[in-house]
Amino acid sequence: MSDNPKWLNNAVFYEIYPQSFMDTDCDGVGNINGITEKLDYIKDLGCNAIWLNPCFESPFGDAGYDVSDYCRVAARYGTNDDLINLFNEAHRRDMHVILDLVPGHTSWEHPWFKESMKAERNQFTDRYVWTDSIWEEPTGYGSLRGISDRDGSCAVNFFTHQPALNYGFYKPTRPWQQSVDSQGAIATREAMKDVMKFWLSRGCDGFRVDMAGSLVKNDEDSKGTITLWQNMTDFVRKEFPEAVLVSEWGEPDKSLQGGFHMDFLLHFGPSHYNDLFRCENPYFDGKGTAADFVEKYIDSYEKSERKGLICIPTGNHDMDRLARHIHGDNKKLAFAFLLTMPGAPYIYYGDEIGMNYVEGLTSVEGGYGRTGSRSPMQWDNSINAGFSAAPSEKLYIPIDPSEDRPTVQSQLNDKNSLRSEVKKLISIRQAHKALQSKGEIEFITKGEEGKPLSYIRKTEGEQILISVNPTDKPCEFKIDSRVKEVIYSLGDGAVIKEGSIVIRECSAVFAIL
Ligand code: NOJ
Repeated sequence: MSDNPKWLNNAVFYEIYPQSFMDTDCDGVGNINGITEKLDYIKDLGCNAIWLNPCFESPFGDAGYDVSDYCRVAARYGTNDDLINLFNEAHRRDMHVILDLVPGHTSWEHPWFKESMKAERNQFTDRYVWTDSIWEEPTGYGSLRGISDRDGSCAVNFFTHQPALNYGFYKPTRPWQQSVDSQGAIATREAMKDVMKFWLSRGCDGFRVDMAGSLVKNDEDSKGTITLWQNMTDFVRKEFPEAVLVSEWGEPDKSLQGGFHMDFLLHFGPSHYNDLFRCENPYFDGKGTAADFVEKYIDSYEKSERKGLICIPTGNHDMDRLARHIHGDNKKLAFAFLLTMPGAPYIYYGDEIGMNYVEGLTSVEGGYGRTGSRSPMQWDNSINAGFSAAPSEKLYIPIDPSEDRPTVQSQLNDKNSLRSEVKKLISIRQAHKALQSKGEIEFITKGEEGKPLSYIRKTEGEQILISVNPTDKPCEFKIDSRVKEVIYSLGDGAVIKEGSIVIRECSAVFAIL
């Protein structure tokens, strides 16, 4: 999509898991007004956009990814007016807010699903993917069976309580499989457009779209899903040209064709993202290799017409905290990389202070192993780390119990802290267009084992070399252009020679060419 909303060009996102960010009504769960209260903190860090995880009515069997009313803020987070106030307060600060759209499934408590379980035909009979006999299950999907008067099994998308909405089958092979242009599939698509319209017309700036690549069934090459998204993104582009759509898809060559502005590199799928941050020997912890990641990145970049809108998050609510695998100052090197790549960067709340994965927690709201990455934000050393004035046993998830847990307060005025480094890196990104979302990228060294990762970011009239070396050995590599000015150096930095650069161990350097 070439006509990007302009604000995306220099957007730096901050992902907020609303349960755990700031609780202003003392019930132990974060809320929307808590986020509004902390907007200045986020802005001070340098982030100018927010991705808010689902905050809608839900039985919370999957932390809100099981929606029971798409158009109502869950009471525990506040009201629709609180959310609209958040949009307004963000806009007043030149910031944007995108919501989380979950179009693939609802909660089994959604009124649509309750209607669709009925034996008599009604408006919602075809809203979900049902077989026509309880004795047949939808091949390839989990299913709900024996819970309705309706004779049939209903496909589920993720957990058992998340029935799959019906967008049709690309190649129907059974009588109950509806085509992508059947009335039922089209009605679902239009209903989802209504949801988007509801929030976009109230000031929301776009959506992160959950499991965007999985809507049409039996769609091996994603052709049906791409066409479906072309229809939905066309609608948004026409009616809300400033709105942004970011897909959780993980295959940018497909999602950008579907009309998404950006796609995420994910911890699953073919991206090799995990090689960098979350595996036995992550590259940024100084041991492994980034070479497969670079190869795959270049492949996606070329296939998506060098649009450069592939987002690499620091982490998210589904994966281990960055700090679980990347130790000490290597986290700063990871951020030096993340904040100089094309596409909008996404910082998961608390990663800017190096919050830890909290080990050994019992699952909360379908979090399971993800629960340790969802603990409350650590603001200061007061009770409950400043997150909530509720009794500690009422907190949504316990606070990280470690004595040396990082806090915002302890890092704010320490110029050597991770937070200060992140703030500095964002301000460098904001000062140089070449480093922002759409600047081109060309790799110079590919981060093979023991080697740095180096690349040039380019835009008209500006070229910036970035070299990040998380390994414990210095490394010399050739460059064709002359270095004009070093604009950032971390660790021992680099020695600049005629035609080459020696990047020191555990160091990073950015230089204008
Ligand atoms: C991806 C979301 O990020 C995750 O948290 C959720 O559980 C699944 N999709 C299902 O919606």
